[in-house]
Amino acid sequence: MNKNIVCIGAGYIGGPTMAVIAKMNPDRKVLVVDINKDRISAWNSPDYALPIYEPGLVDVVKEVRGKNLFFSTDIKGAVKECDIVFVGVNTPTKMFGRGAGRASDLQYWEATARDIKEYADGDKIVIEKSTLPVRTAAAMDAILNTHAKYRFTVLSNPEFLAEGTAIKDLLEPDRVLIGGPQDDVGIAAINEAVDIYASWVPRDRILTTNVWSAELTKLAANAFLAQRVSSINAIAGLCEATGADVDEVARVIGADRRIGPKFLKAGPGFGGSCFKKDVLNLVYLCETFGLHTAAEYWIGVIKMNEHQQERIVSRLFREMFNTLANKKIALFGFAFKADTGDTRETPAGKVARLLADEHVRLVITDPKALVNARRDLADLDGVSYIEDEYKAVESADAVVVMTDWRHYPALDWRRIYGAMRKPALVFDTRNCLDAAALRKIGFKVLNIGK
Ligand code: UDX
Ligand code: ADP
Repeated sequence: MNKNIVCIGAGYIGGPTMAVIAKMNPDRKVLVVDINKDRISAWNSPDYALPIYEPGLVDVVKEVRGKNLFFSTDIKGAVKECDIVFVGVNTPTKMFGRGAGRASDLQYWEATARDIKEYADGDKIVIEKSTLPVRTAAAMDAILNTHAKYRFTVLSNPEFLAEGTAIKDLLEPDRVLIGGPQDDVGIAAINEAVDIYASWVPRDRILTTNVWSAELTKLAANAFLAQRVSSINAIAGLCEATGADVDEVARVIGADRRIGPKFLKAGPGFGGSCFKKDVLNLVYLCETFGLHTAAEYWIGVIKMNEHQQERIVSRLFREMFNTLANKKIALFGFAFKADTGDTRETPAGKVARLLADEHVRLVITDPKALVNARRDLADLDGVSYIEDEYKAVESADAVVVMTDWRHYPALDWRRIYGAMRKPALVFDTRNCLDAAALRKIGFKVLNIGK
């Protein structure tokens, strides 16, 4: 009989992943539990006002919630009922004590391990989904299996889904990775985990490794992606200085099949919950093992990213006659990328703060992220949050496009121009608008890397 599954942590990873697992495994019961009552109520809301926005997620939840997918706060009951326990609790960067600013804060994760041990009434397969530093599976194993009545086999199944495309990434993954102990019990557990995914993922895309390779792969994969973004952004500055065009350069670099075209888009820098955290984790690991040159190398990726946001504000400053005080600037987009309401580590946050330091009158507009923006910038005075772009630009001096929302190119830019103070500036940090058309209207246009 197929075993029941519980996921502890109903967040960005746990919610969508379990919804898809439930959809594709109709004969398994899938429970998602969380300590946060509000979050669980939102997952259970009758009108499907889910706690996170992901294209396609509502449809999947409508299909399976109440059939074989259940959300609750009863962690104890769920652990008892299920033989396979996914752990998807948050592991933010630690902001205190040893490893502050680098290592992951593992308190939620450790509390979860202790809960599993306390509530278990039989052997369990425990599968890490949270991004964790390498070798934490060993720590999980030690917590669970010391003086334990039951056997806990710990696997690592890192998540590669990107926000905004989570459902598609889950349904059609490039690969699923499952790491586990290489003994008989471990291999049997790996096979159980493989079975969950094999109900829809072709077998040759389900890769298995030892636990540590799986954990390190997650950090390394994200670090490689982040490094590509920082590399193209480093070239963008040079393009601006020399008259080259970064989009042209990226197109030609990406035509080399060894490099490939993806993740070469210059912009305001990477955001999101993973890239910075994972690179910092890698740095921490390198330092822990005395690999200082490697640590410096990866720190460079983060420094480059932060520099990109500083460069945006410096360019605005120069282009707006070296004074920004009292000028009205509308940020178009606050989410760290399109199709999500998530603002964790968003470059727009840093730019907003740098502009606030210059006493800019800020207006933030975003179709999905205004609630988060308001929370993130709560300590700043004089910021307005306006959903309607046309209202947001009334007598503004500049528009700074921070997120590549798909509807931005289709806005009525003539109307926007008409509403703004002149000279009206658009700084398109995503290079997603038609610059020539904007110039024709009368805008002064800035782009990244040109
Ligand atoms: C990322 C990884 O893609 C995913 O595999 C992992 O599981 C979690 O971290 P995510 O953070 O959701 O996913 O978004 P992603 O699409 O990777 O974008 C990250 C950031 O890089 C965004 O701020 C995006 O705007 C930026 N980016 C991406 C660029 O600036 N240029 C690019 O070419 C690509
Ligand atoms: P991620 O992006 O990794 O999914 P989120 O912050 O979106 O991170 O979600 C993590 C979830 O884990 C949160 O809803 C949080 O309430 C939950 N959580 C944290 N600690 C525990 C715990 N000890 N038991 C159950 N749930 C927890």
